[in-house]
Amino acid sequence: MTKKLSITSIQKAKGDRPLTMITAYDALFAKLFDPIADIILVGDSLNMSFGGKKDTLSATLDQMIYHTQAVCNGAQNSFVIADMPFGTYPTAEKALENATRLFQECPADAVKIEGGQNKAETIRHLVDNGIAVCGHIGLLPQSVRGEGGYKVKGKNEEEAKALITDALAVEQAGAFCMVIEGVKAEVAMHVARAVKVPVIGIGAGNSVDGQVLVFSDMLGLFEAFTPKFVKKYLNGAELVKEAVQNYKDEVESRRFPDEIHTY
Ligand code: KIV
Repeated sequence: MTKKLSITSIQKAKGDRPLTMITAYDALFAKLFDPIADIILVGDSLNMSFGGKKDTLSATLDQMIYHTQAVCNGAQNSFVIADMPFGTYPTAEKALENATRLFQECPADAVKIEGGQNKAETIRHLVDNGIAVCGHIGLLPQSVRGEGGYKVKGKNEEEAKALITDALAVEQAGAFCMVIEGVKAEVAMHVARAVKVPVIGIGAGNSVDGQVLVFSDMLGLFEAFTPKFVKKYLNGAELVKEAVQNYKDEVESRRFPDEIHTY
């Protein structure tokens, strides 16, 4: 059993060891990941892999609260971060109102919000009011419709400079760490070097301070599409389908339930 990390120990990990973050949406998987992961993220990606939607935008605060409560029930030892869903932080005041509700109803350790310089004031307001914030810069899934697709960032000097500006703004606003998503590896490396807080990458190469993956992607359970950066550590979909097929075969042939599974 690993000891639960604190914000201080997460920050001290920078330059010492890479941090491992994984998403979870329920108590069942959170309990499995709890002794292993450093940080569990209740990502609004649940809207896609759990809810079957085409993007994250329709996830609601009520849904995030329900799933964060479930994850916290299963994960007693991991540092838990909950995503603030799309539309819940248009202003600093609204963000505080919604993050306060999330904190009051769930024992999560921090919230994550997407955005750089444009969200600095919001991050500062949350931090000033006792809510720890993980930033999220680079490719922002909540902006997919506004940007007309998922676009890798850091492809030219202008984008690289904008990412560094965003990272510095998020850090100066008081975020204790940040996720960097969908960014050219070399640019992500420069971003990680530019700030003192840990920068946790997804699709951002191997020269950052940690990695995060969506659990249903890395366990091979989500079949709709596989981004280039996802490594499948398990062929989960095949294993599950095989098990359910075996169950069906045994039901139909009356081999299940057998004597040892019968009262
Ligand atoms: O929602 C999510 O799972 C995320 C990760 C992709 C970082 O934000």
